Amino acid sequence: MVDAARGGDLNVFRRLQEVTPWVNAYRRAGLAIGFVPTLGALHAGHRSLMRAARRECDRVVLSVFVNPTQFGPDEDLDAYPRTPEDDLAACLDEGVDLVWFAERDEMYPPRFQTWVAVEDMTRALCGVSRPHHFRGVTTVVPQLLHVVRPHRAYFGQKDYQQSLVIRRLVDDLHIDTEVRVCPTQRDPDGLAVSSRNRYLSDAERQVALRLNRALGVGRDAILAGDTSRSRVTGEMMRVLQPGGELRLDYLEVRDAETLAELSGERLEVETTPVVIVVAAFVGQARLIDNVVVQGRMAGCHEDRID
Ligand code: PAJ
Repeated sequence: MVDAARGGDLNVFRRLQEVTPWVNAYRRAGLAIGFVPTLGALHAGHRSLMRAARRECDRVVLSVFVNPTQFGPDEDLDAYPRTPEDDLAACLDEGVDLVWFAERDEMYPPRFQTWVAVEDMTRALCGVSRPHHFRGVTTVVPQLLHVVRPHRAYFGQKDYQQSLVIRRLVDDLHIDTEVRVCPTQRDPDGLAVSSRNRYLSDAERQVALRLNRALGVGRDAILAGDTSRSRVTGEMMRVLQPGGELRLDYLEVRDAETLAELSGERLEVETTPVVIVVAAFVGQARLIDNVVVQGRMAGCHEDRID
């Protein structure tokens, strides 16, 4: 029995036909739906999104789906952590109303052949070393949004490129959902929380911390008035020490709003906020992180990365 007005229970579903009547009932009852799409293995980053949704909406829906199409053939699809019991406990803890463990046969039935692609923005940065990744994300996200029909959907700044790509997609496809992007959650040592951190040994974790340190050095240099992009990048490279245990994929300073490459060498963050984005392999893990740097204009705040 669908009783949308009654909050406080956690409903757990697998099939689409179970989810739809609930979201329809929420809408009919005039309740604002907040949606958190995930790959599962829920951690503090996901929890921050659940909390934001809880704060801002009447009902919180969370999906868990290890979307196969966003993993490349040599990536960690099979090894990707699956922890449904712990995920449910986290959802109960955070007051989620509905968890949808989506199933592959419904998301990608045998006759499936419709793909969504966001073009230019997905070709750079993570799109270079993961050429199929964003097509998988930009296909599954509208599928999920069309089923859940949320008023707001919550994403993390941790995946900066993904968040901008999803904003573009929602805008271009006129999807009636507000995209909310929430700050990156970090462990006390500064490492951005990620399901993939569990692949790191203790020693590798120390190496991984260079990502966050390098971003801090870059941000501080810019805020201290250094306007030379190559000098700032050089300083960050000295902290990163690529080679050996850290295999750098990219380190770039880009336009924070569009992710476009900056046209000149001079950084003018008062007028063009920038994002410093980094991706690197440490051991088995591919790690990404970023920091937004904008001028000290009224109302602006700096990202906390340490
Ligand atoms: P997943 O990696 O599970 O992440 C789900 C959401 O949690 C994403 O929006 C991601 O940016 C956010 N997130 C992850 N780590 C975070 C952190 N440390 N701080 C804040 N937010 C964090 O991203 C995906 O899943 C998938 O691509 C998905 C959007 C679900 C499509 O399959």
